[in-house]
Amino acid sequence: MAILPILVAPHPVLKRKAQPVAAVTDEERRLLDDMLETMYDAPGIGLAAPQVGVSKRMLVVDVAREGEAPQPMKLINPEILETSDDLAAYEEGCLSFPDQFAEVKRPAAVRIAYLDETGEAREIKAEGLLATCLQHEIDHLDGVVFVDHISQLKRTMILRKLQKLKKQGRLQAAE
Ligand code: NI
Repeated sequence: MAILPILVAPHPVLKRKAQPVAAVTDEERRLLDDMLETMYDAPGIGLAAPQVGVSKRMLVVDVAREGEAPQPMKLINPEILETSDDLAAYEEGCLSFPDQFAEVKRPAAVRIAYLDETGEAREIKAEGLLATCLQHEIDHLDGVVFVDHISQLKRTMILRKLQKLKKQGRLQAAE
């Protein structure tokens, strides 16, 4: 396994719609393992392939709390089948926006179809933090980032702060 460099916004790959995975092979499985290791190292609770520069529809999440057993999940070609009318607000962050946070409202519950790492079709119902995290990561596959859900004023502030951090050389991530 390997720790991969994480792209920091703004970056063209983060704005691109990712391609569906045609076949789940060892290459995909290796990337998912590397993505998990990269996410745990960061540390974060979710990571989408475009964030490591791979424009493919793959993501990993683990929303286990500290002290709980890890609950790694790997999703390939995820598709949201159903969303609740109820919304939930969470303070979101993103490994591509280091140290930046903003409240985002999303459907509180979702039903998602995906392929697992063996290529088998699966479905998951999620609510709470997992629902938010999965929607945030699936957004990444469509070139959408969490600041696209907040006001333009807040978005501009966050992007300026990131630019400042980049200039100061305080961001280690890949350019
Ligand atoms: Ni993110």
